[in-house]
Amino acid sequence: MRWQKIEVASSKSYPICLGASLEELGQYLEQRVETNAHIIVISNPVVSEYYAEKVMSGLTNFQADQIIVPAGEEEKSLQRLEWITGEALKLGADRKTLVLALGGGVIGDLAGFFASIFMRGIRLIQIPTTLLAQVDSSIGGKVAVNHPGGKNLIGAFYPPLAVWTDFSTLQTLPWKEVLDGLAETIKHALIADRELFEFIQSHQKQIIERDTATFKEMTSRSLMVKVRIVSEDEKEEGKRMLLNFGHSFGHALETELAYRGITHGQGVSIGMVAAANLAKARGIISSAEVDKLINLLESFGLPTSIDKDKDHQKLVTNMQADKKNRGGQKILILPKGLGQAVICKDCSDEEIVEAWMAITK
Ligand code: NAD
Ligand code: GLY
Repeated sequence: MRWQKIEVASSKSYPICLGASLEELGQYLEQRVETNAHIIVISNPVVSEYYAEKVMSGLTNFQADQIIVPAGEEEKSLQRLEWITGEALKLGADRKTLVLALGGGVIGDLAGFFASIFMRGIRLIQIPTTLLAQVDSSIGGKVAVNHPGGKNLIGAFYPPLAVWTDFSTLQTLPWKEVLDGLAETIKHALIADRELFEFIQSHQKQIIERDTATFKEMTSRSLMVKVRIVSEDEKEEGKRMLLNFGHSFGHALETELAYRGITHGQGVSIGMVAAANLAKARGIISSAEVDKLINLLESFGLPTSIDKDKDHQKLVTNMQADKKNRGGQKILILPKGLGQAVICKDCSDEEIVEAWMAITK
């Protein structure tokens, strides 16, 4: 076994098979799943073109089919879920079918949610192929589709049988997508791993050049932050809220721009700097530390400020819709120095406006 096994504790614990190859998955399944089991690989055209054959080549002892979904966030919909159900039935899917979700966070969420409700739940393995999916979305069991009323509003906690992480898939990932994962990785570093923050700081060149060893180290450390947090708090009753760092501010901006002209990673990047400014005003992070965060994000071309034309009050109003809020009270995550964070339930709207103002250029 050349890969590393990391156990995620949850209502149904599961391993992350880290550094495994796509071709080896079949062999792993042969020891765990009945011979000739029905498997459906769900992917999108881009990922399938690169990687489906590698996965399928190991599945010769199974009855393996594929369902290819068009690419894009808009595919995380109830309509697409209904379509997948029809396709799965045509392929003879039943309660014993195993779903392999091969792709980024969109496929992981969509195929994962399908697996969670088809015939009241069938087996699922996550095969994350983006940096974001490897460090974040494939871990922790959240699966969902979107609703016109908001992102990920219809979903479930559905732990997979395993997460199968092949680092080599990141080699074909466009830089724009790497940046989305990098923003979440810097988030993980800031809330829980100062050494990871320093590692990213000292390996900027290697990261930009996509050095394999650097990526492996960074991805492994980043995903361990998520593993530790969700293993302690599967259902987001406390500590898991820390993973929302940068997201309340970021979502408000994404909503304002109707998700156009801004990527999720860019939203998170700006959101982290806004939250850090609020923390600075409260005296729990220093100016020098906030500058380090800004410099790091900017060194990768991630944005750290907003334009003067933005209505700060409107942004605060957008933050009211955050799913993490409770009883009308905004719940914000604030960095405590570099490498720790706190859940803040008493931030006033005035402080939040000040934080937006601090990052307006
Ligand atoms: P994505 O799934 O849309 O993938 C980004 C793009 O990269 C797509 O166009 C895809 O075709 C392409 N791609 C994927 N893997 C590739 C590869 N190896 N080589 C080349 N191209 C590849 O985006 P994402 O950033 O991975 O995920 C975003 C989604 O994840 C959002 O829907 C978000 O809500 C969700 N999410 C879920 C969780 C969770 O806990 N479930 C956490 C964070 C984000
Ligand atoms: N991405 C936040 C979470 O999984 O809780």
